[in-house]
This record gives sequence, structure tokens and C-alpha cells, in this order.
Amino acid sequence: MTQLEQSAAPGAEWWRSAVIYQIYPRSFADASGDGIGDLPGITSRLESLKELGIDAIWLSPFMTSPQKDAGYDVADYRDVDPIFGTLADFDTMLAEAHARGIRVIVDLVPNHSSDQHAWFQAALKAAPGSPERARYVFRDGRGENGELPPNNWESVFGGGMWERITEPDGTPGQWYLHIFDPTQPDFDWTNEEVKEEFRSILRFWLDRGVDGFRVDVAHGMAKEAGLPDYAPVADADSMGGGEENVPYWGQDEVHDIYRDWHQVLAEYDGDRALCGEAWLPTLKKTALWVRPDEMHQTFNFPYLMTPWDAKALGSVIRESLEEFGKVGAPSTWVLSNHDVVRHATRLAFTDDNPQGEGIGPLTPNKPDTAIGLARGRAATTLMLSLPGSSYLYQGEELGLPEAMEIPDEFRQDPTWFRTEGKRYGRDGCRVPLPWEAGAPAFGFNDTGASWLPQPAEWAAYARSTEENDPTSTLALYKQLLRLRREHDLGSGTLVWEDLGADAVAFRRGDIHVAANLGTAPVELPANAKFLVRSQPFTGTALPADTAAWYTAS
Ligand code: GLC
Repeated sequence: MTQLEQSAAPGAEWWRSAVIYQIYPRSFADASGDGIGDLPGITSRLESLKELGIDAIWLSPFMTSPQKDAGYDVADYRDVDPIFGTLADFDTMLAEAHARGIRVIVDLVPNHSSDQHAWFQAALKAAPGSPERARYVFRDGRGENGELPPNNWESVFGGGMWERITEPDGTPGQWYLHIFDPTQPDFDWTNEEVKEEFRSILRFWLDRGVDGFRVDVAHGMAKEAGLPDYAPVADADSMGGGEENVPYWGQDEVHDIYRDWHQVLAEYDGDRALCGEAWLPTLKKTALWVRPDEMHQTFNFPYLMTPWDAKALGSVIRESLEEFGKVGAPSTWVLSNHDVVRHATRLAFTDDNPQGEGIGPLTPNKPDTAIGLARGRAATTLMLSLPGSSYLYQGEELGLPEAMEIPDEFRQDPTWFRTEGKRYGRDGCRVPLPWEAGAPAFGFNDTGASWLPQPAEWAAYARSTEENDPTSTLALYKQLLRLRREHDLGSGTLVWEDLGADAVAFRRGDIHVAANLGTAPVELPANAKFLVRSQPFTGTALPADTAAWYTAS
């Protein structure tokens, strides 16, 4: 291998090169018509995913939940919430997906449960120091009468990280830890009973036939012993992406948990996989999550957070292949999910904060939708040519922008409530999908109900509209996925090329890939023959905010 040649790690397991499509069940397709998507809705639309050409789906949580954090607050890990259907609906969905060659990954939320979980309810009724309390992180408060929280940690959703309870006898009592909302108490992962419970939950879903798990907050489960005070640096990413040595993020003890889970998955056939959601300050640290005996994949958030800048993008790709390569894991790539501003909008941000805190009616200098879409299409064209596994988020194949005008009264993200409206939060990327331009709720269901309002201009993004337009974003995604499969681009090596400071360029075998992140056109070889262009152009000058795959021999 030459110095400039980089490869995804060897091995033939499906997850090393898969394109995995994230379904946010609330907003994908709603068979019951109540305005919230469901499992039968997913089953009814699987054929469209097969046509799209993805390899697997990841479903955000559909387990029993009071929905205080859109299902990331689980009250029963072994059942389906009635708003999404039943276990039988899940089994049908799984069988139908498998019948189409689509693998299924489910979301597992092990850092915290819902406060309505039977264990937490039992803990509230039990005494301080009891085994029931020991499953969570209960502590006495500071101050003369325990009236101050045990430490100064701040919740990701705003406000303090501790909630005080009233003891069964009516007196003000202990405090419990919640990295997120007070309705999401953190488990104590030093407790053997918690570990055993989650092994059993993994087996429950593996026995049903799932192909793997996306592990929620995989960097938060272990806390530094003694729970020392910690104040985040100003403007830090609250999920821990920008800081070293945070006592509740990225603690070494989490690795033992994943080694244990790796063994559980290895008992099953079919290359079942774990993918960790771990927001960590460096790729070097992120790669520790995917050492050979730990998780199989972890999300590449440094890649997602990279602004639209050729130098930054080139180096994050180089470093990703290098760091994941060192531990024998594939790199993953991701541009959008249910927690960030959609990339067809985010890439048009003019400041250096690609994560954003949501966009709403009062946000100043909103990103330009046309620029965002051009960059979004170019970014995906580049991403789907990279070796490793790529994640797509539902709706990005339509080029959906962030919904930026959701009226306040519809908002549901706890971030919005916990910060008293200072941060809009994540509702703008969670709006139900438009399937059919002229239909009620754009075909999300038959009734027209929708848990978040769909912008009227989304008729232009509806799948039915885009299906008939060869220049649509949907047509582009289908073409990219087909070519990626045909040329086996998910595995193999990458050779860097130099097309100037504004371009990211490399070769995958005979296929050259170039993206122009500058403002002036970038000249490609005169004999370039295009396989795919992120937007139409003639000649061989690659326009600004455009990417292409071509051969030149
Ligand atoms: C993860 C999820 C996010 C959720 C949080 C708490 O970051 O992706 O949606 O709010 O965990 O469970």
C-alpha cells in the first residue's frame, strides 16, 4: 500500500460496508392514522426502501415509553409501545425486511430508563441504601439538610443533572442522577443486576432475529468514581463531542461493558453488530469503541460535525481511515440523524457551528435552502463513495431541509422546554415524511394528522414528485447506491488526488471522485466520463458546491 492509499479494514461481514438507513418510527409512515408513525407503516413502505437500494435499517426506539424524549425513555425494554403497534407487528416487519434482503438494527437505550420503568418506581418506594435504589444513581444531597444537589453537573437538555425525590414518608429525600431529562434516570452500571438485565434484553431481541443494535449514549454509561464536580467549558457541545476528561463521558469502564456484549452477540450466527452512539472529542478516542473485541461500529460524529471546508473535510476523512484502520474496524460516515439539523440545511450555515441548537421562527440569518441542498447533494455524493459503512437518515434521500418555521406550540423536544425556549432543539429534523404530493399529510397517513406540522412547500419534496424527476435528489441517491454496489465501493482502498485547495479528490480503483467546496469551478481532466454528478452541468469544469464520480482513461 502506498503512503497515500488508505483502506477500510479487511473482512467480509455485512456491516463493514453496509449503507444503513435510519428510520425514525414516529415520522416515517403512519398506518393507524393517529398522526404518529408506526411499525405497520414501516412494513407498508419497505418496498420503497428496497428500491432505494439500502442494505439495512436502524429503527429509533419503538419500545414501551411515555414518550417524554420521543421513545428514548424506555419503560419496558421487551415490548412495543401501543402507539407503534405490537410485538407481532415487529415480527412481521422484521420478516418482511429480511425477505427483501434488508437487515434490521434496533435502538437500545442502556444509559437510562424512563422514570415509569418498574425498577425506578420500585426505587422510589424503597429506602435509601436499598437494592432497588442501587440500580440507579441515588445520592444524599449536600447542604445542611441535603437541600443542594450532590454535585454541579448540568443536564444535556439544560438545567441541573439531579432531581430530588420525596421519600415514601413524605419528607424531602435523596437525589437521582439524569444526564438527560428528569424523566430519564441513569442506571448505575457498576451494579451486576443492571449488567445481567441488559444481557437478557440483548438476547430477547437477538432471539427475535434482529441483526444488531444501535447503542444510545454509548459514551455515558460509566461515571467517574466519587462523581466529582465538573463545569463544562463555555459553548461546549453538551453531548461531550468537544471536551476531554468529562466525568460522565467516555470513561474507561464502558469498554468492559461492550466486551461483555460482544460475547453475547458472538453466541449468535449471522454477524450481529453493535454500533455505538459516542460523541467523543477525537477520532483516536472514538476508535477505542471499536477495538476487535468491543463494538463493531461507532458513529463518526467528527465527520458529521465538519463544516463545508475542503481542508477540514479532507483531513477528517484521512484521519478516520487511519484511526479506525489501526484497530481493524471500518470507518462509518454519517451526515444527518434525528439529533442534528438536517445536512441539506446545516451545510449552508455561515458560522462554524454545524451542530446548531435547532432552527426556529426567530433564528436570525437562516441558512439558504438552495445552497444547502446543493452542498447536501454534493456531500452525500462524496460520502457514498467512501470505503466503510454509511448511515442515511430518513428524508435525506428527498433532499429534505430542516423544518425551520414550526410554531412554538407544536414543539415537543425536551431541550426546548428545559431551556425555556432558548434552544429550539431537534423537532425541525423530525417532521413526518412527505410520500405523496396531493394526499392528506402528504401520504404519511390517510387522515391528515401529523404530530409535527409538515411545511406546505414539502409537496415539492414528496416522493411521488421526485420519483418522476430524473434530476431529483431521490434519483441521485438511487443512482449513487446502485453504482456503489456495482463497483463494491464500500470496501477497498482509497488513493488521494490533488485538484487544488478547494477540492476533496480521490480515486477508488478506476473511479475518480471529486467535490468542489470552493466558489470557483475546479477543472477535471478533459477526458473525464461522468458516472454521476450531484447536479447537472456540462463540460469538465466542476461547479462550486458540486461533486462527481468519473473515469478518465
Ligand atoms: C441520544 C439520542 C437522543 C436522545 C438521547 C437521550 O443522544 O440520539 O435522541 O435524546 O440519547 O436518550
